[in-house]
Amino acid sequence: MTRAMELELLDSKKKMVSGTYLCNAWYVAAWSDNLADGQLLSRTILKEPIVLFRKSDGHIAALQDRCPHRFAPLHMGKVVGGDRVQCPYHGLEFDSSGACVLNPHGTKNIPPRARVRSYPVTEKHKAIWIWMGEQPPDLAKVPDFSVLDNVPEMHATKRDRITIRANYELIIDNLLDLSHTSYLHDGILGNSDTVESEITVEQDGDDVIVGRYARNATAPGLFAILMPSTPERVDKFTRMRWMAPSNLRLLTGICAPGAVPESGTGYHAIHMLTPESDKTTHYFFTAVRFNVLTADDRLNAQIQDKISTTRRFAFEEQDAPVIEAQQEMIDAAATAVDPIIHSCRAEAIGDARAGGMAGRISV
Ligand code: FES
Ligand SMILES: [Fe+2]
Repeated sequence: MTRAMELELLDSKKKMVSGTYLCNAWYVAAWSDNLADGQLLSRTILKEPIVLFRKSDGHIAALQDRCPHRFAPLHMGKVVGGDRVQCPYHGLEFDSSGACVLNPHGTKNIPPRARVRSYPVTEKHKAIWIWMGEQPPDLAKVPDFSVLDNVPEMHATKRDRITIRANYELIIDNLLDLSHTSYLHDGILGNSDTVESEITVEQDGDDVIVGRYARNATAPGLFAILMPSTPERVDKFTRMRWMAPSNLRLLTGICAPGAVPESGTGYHAIHMLTPESDKTTHYFFTAVRFNVLTADDRLNAQIQDKISTTRRFAFEEQDAPVIEAQQEMIDAAATAVDPIIHSCRAEAIGDARAGGMAGRISV
């Protein structure tokens, strides 16, 4: 292969997976209820090993998870005095700013280099967010997942997480193009009736919203259970909002054919992607039902469980194998991997009507 061919190959791969990160942004490190008092939680984010813990005042600290003495992972140590991490190896202690505040040995001298990086952290929408860049953190930039706030637990599904062995950009591609639901999630999240959909693409500030509206379709399995008596034919709507770099919020549901979506029911589907490395991604997800039409508590508990387990199955057993295989194909490709683009209706781009639902149900 000539040098020019090599460069063309690399360039084509970068079109699929850029291999870069936006650092000055908030990423989900964990769900809030997954970090208990006294716990040291290790998590690699944007290739940086990080340890998280709750301080005695309830606020969360995030430190580089590598002791500067002999590089033992701090998460193997313990929280001491409520606010410090003690290294498991020789006992140096670090406060939440990352400074070494105790050397139990000899002269007890603390060298200036005895410190680790600390990262800004905030808690919002039931998640722990970490700011990975060097610029000052901007709390106004925490993505809006307020649909998770103040909802009855009964109508919110499990706050879950999986790891996908692929670059996060491939997962964004998966989530913004829900045409795959008719094939990969046939019968569960999509079906042959939902292949034909009106597609809209909008830009809202820095967000991009892709809508799909399938009219007069049979309700896919997970949607059919949401109504007390589901009509034989429904309109199925989806609106996926991408909040760059890697957080997405989907509004999806069904209504009677020709009715307004507000008369129907469905759920807000939350997809939070946090790059672990160039080729692995933490995938946090949950869902919150809206316009709940089923009144019975026992039934609602069953629906809650069904949405939790079905979505995990869809992502882990159906999406992940294909996305991971895509990553492998791209890595192994010896010839250019320029993706083809389907033709699409020109009027879909910039169409803000989105089947009449834009601005009426919050997306
Ligand atoms: S490696 Fe941490 S104190 Fe020695
Ligand atoms: Fe999917």
